[in-house]
Amino acid sequence: MVISPPQKLTMLFEIIGAGVFSYGLFYLLAMCFVDCDVELWFYSIFGRSPRKLKGKVVCITGASSGIGEHTAKALAKRGVKLALTARRKNELERVKRECIELSKGQLVDDDVLVLAFDITDLSLHKKVLEQIINHFGSLDILVNNAGRSQRALFEHIQMNVDKQMFDLNVFAVVNLSRFAVKYFSERGSGHVAVVSSLAGVFGVPYSATYTATKHAIHGYFGALRTEKTGKNIAVTLLCPGPVYTNFLQESFTEKDGEKYGIPANKTDRRMTGERCGELCAVALANRTHESWMGIFPMMPFVYTAVYFPIVSKMCLKLLGPQRLFKIRDSKEITLDEVAIA
Ligand SMILES: NC(=O)c1ccc[n+]([C@@H]2O[C@H](COP(=O)([O-])OP(=O)(O)OC[C@H]3O[C@@H](n4cnc5c(N)ncnc54)[C@H](OP(=O)(O)O)[C@@H]3O)[C@@H](O)[C@H]2O)c1
Repeated sequence: MVISPPQKLTMLFEIIGAGVFSYGLFYLLAMCFVDCDVELWFYSIFGRSPRKLKGKVVCITGASSGIGEHTAKALAKRGVKLALTARRKNELERVKRECIELSKGQLVDDDVLVLAFDITDLSLHKKVLEQIINHFGSLDILVNNAGRSQRALFEHIQMNVDKQMFDLNVFAVVNLSRFAVKYFSERGSGHVAVVSSLAGVFGVPYSATYTATKHAIHGYFGALRTEKTGKNIAVTLLCPGPVYTNFLQESFTEKDGEKYGIPANKTDRRMTGERCGELCAVALANRTHESWMGIFPMMPFVYTAVYFPIVSKMCLKLLGPQRLFKIRDSKEITLDEVAIA
């Protein structure tokens, strides 16, 4: 059978169309069934295993609980040497013991260093990094994880709360990272990661300052990544959605000195800390630029917000901020004015 040139052209377009359709369908299904972005999911199966980080030195801030603790444990299982920092020394010592146990003989006491300090005291940062480098002889990856969230109504937030949140979630991260980047630049390689949030990708209701701090992180570290292109210094933004940790209880509110104080329930729809730590380890091993994590419906939400802003606007109108809050926290909002409205 002879195929004419117009028929050949039609066939070519049909093949391209089928390819585009299959790619779209694959993404749509992946978004609904996986608990992270498609790139990270792909790396978790076919990418560089975190085992490849064995023997490297990783410093994790905020390692006394939650995502920091679970990332430390995921790395310890692969024989990664760790510097663990936070304020609660006894909790850090507990995490250290558990990391050594999980490493099954790959790590000994000297391979996990505990440094208890308040990360908002910027005057300590240089000394802390020097202590780590002197102890291990090098530092390969800095994971900035320490941080706190917020539940508050925008118009009620006291300026002092904004300032404290930027001190912890932004300026402490930037200051510590500057010392690390100077060191990485001198030795010609290194990796800086920050535990941001899906709130760093789109605006979440009742957490305005928190959203702003995480967006600021994306600004600072996006610029750093561009500056260091081709210089063997990687920058990774780890963006979890709701994860089961102490986070909610520890959250700032609108008032200076107040904590939200409502703990997450075991039954809440949140990713486990273990799974989040594992995904962070995969992202670090593969030096991703930005990795999203969260159980359904977080991935369709974030993909829609980033790639289909008009659809996202319509969804927001249909759902409303309070239902979005419920999806995020698995409970009704308790802020007085919102609850009454
Ligand atoms: N859980 C979530 O749903 C979620 C979602 C997206 C992003 N995140 C991000 O994940 C990171 C960790 O949060 P998490 O959920 O694991 O909460 P978490 O269990 O409360 O952990 C927070 C960590 O930060 C440390 N920290 C807080 N203030 C500090 C300070 N002033 N100085 C030194 N360390 C300090 C805490 O240790 P000490 O109290 O011992 O100092 C703790 O180890 C945060 O950056 C957060 O924005 C969490």
